[in-house]
Amino acid sequence: MDIGEIKKEILSKSNLKELDAAHKKYLGKNGSLNVELKALKDLPPDERKAKAPELQRLKREIDAAVVERAGYLKRKEIESSLESEIIDITAPGVKIEMGHIHPLTKVQDRMNEIFTSLGFEIVEGPEVETEWYNFDALNIPEDHPARDMWDTFWLAPENRESETKNQNLLLRTHTSPVQIRYMETHHSPLRIITSGRVFRHEASDASHDIQFHQLEGLMVDKNITVANFKAVIGEFLKGLFAGKVQTRLRPAYFPFVEPGFEVMMSCANCDAKGCPVCSKTGWLEVMGAGMVHPNVFKAVGYDVNEVQGFAFGIGIDRIAMMKYKIDDIRLFYGGDLKFLRQF
Ligand code: DAH
Repeated sequence: MDIGEIKKEILSKSNLKELDAAHKKYLGKNGSLNVELKALKDLPPDERKAKAPELQRLKREIDAAVVERAGYLKRKEIESSLESEIIDITAPGVKIEMGHIHPLTKVQDRMNEIFTSLGFEIVEGPEVETEWYNFDALNIPEDHPARDMWDTFWLAPENRESETKNQNLLLRTHTSPVQIRYMETHHSPLRIITSGRVFRHEASDASHDIQFHQLEGLMVDKNITVANFKAVIGEFLKGLFAGKVQTRLRPAYFPFVEPGFEVMMSCANCDAKGCPVCSKTGWLEVMGAGMVHPNVFKAVGYDVNEVQGFAFGIGIDRIAMMKYKIDDIRLFYGGDLKFLRQF
């Protein structure tokens, strides 16, 4: 056995598995050197004496060479794994883009908060409505000129027959149909709000868009009067504008209420002194409201001699425009990040 050749062989191994195999080849159970070592005991004493030291030396040298090579290979392995794990702690960070709440949603959330603190429950309704819920049940009969108050996007007719209820589909023009949906399935007393997107088929300008948002409210109980309404809405506007606004009611016509009002709010933009936002009047119309019309109660099967109620519909976009001093409603829907990032 040429120890020089064996060492060369050991040093040529490039991984621990091969190295182990090489070690076994000489010193494993049936390794060639091991076999010779085991055979020593069967030799006559003289021969054994002469041969043993040489074999022992070989064994030591092979063991030493394997240990050395193994150390080297392990070091290399660690080095290369460290290299692949290097973290450059001086490299600039990757900026995480955080989204944030849309200004309309912010205002809507705040409104929900105020009304729930006054005991109102939040409910929802569909954006695609039937003619029955959007108009008929709200005391706006077909062919009545009042329908012209709501320029409507009609949807392609579907075969949805009902003997009594008009099933033509449309995009809801207001959130008032949710009043009907809720009363159909719930008894008085009740206090609800619902908010969401509504649609109007009309030309858009700085204060009108084909879509906007409303928050509808409804309270029904025994002995509800306009005084209850004034109190609730006064609290609401105080909460929203931190006590800085005044309100007043002005008579107005909406088919689903009697009497009906427009709620005027002193202009928060100019402290009611008069500015372009309030057309120099110091006051702004922010909602429609009134005492629920008996025909509406009849449409949902309530006893008109038993209950009264008030209802209101607030333009969320207008309130948000006031709150943030935004002069064009279309900015809310343009998706312009330069605008949206300011809130
Ligand atoms: N639905 C009305 C509109 O969109 C607003 C409104 C007026 C809602 C009077 C009401 C109400 O609940 O009582 O123009």
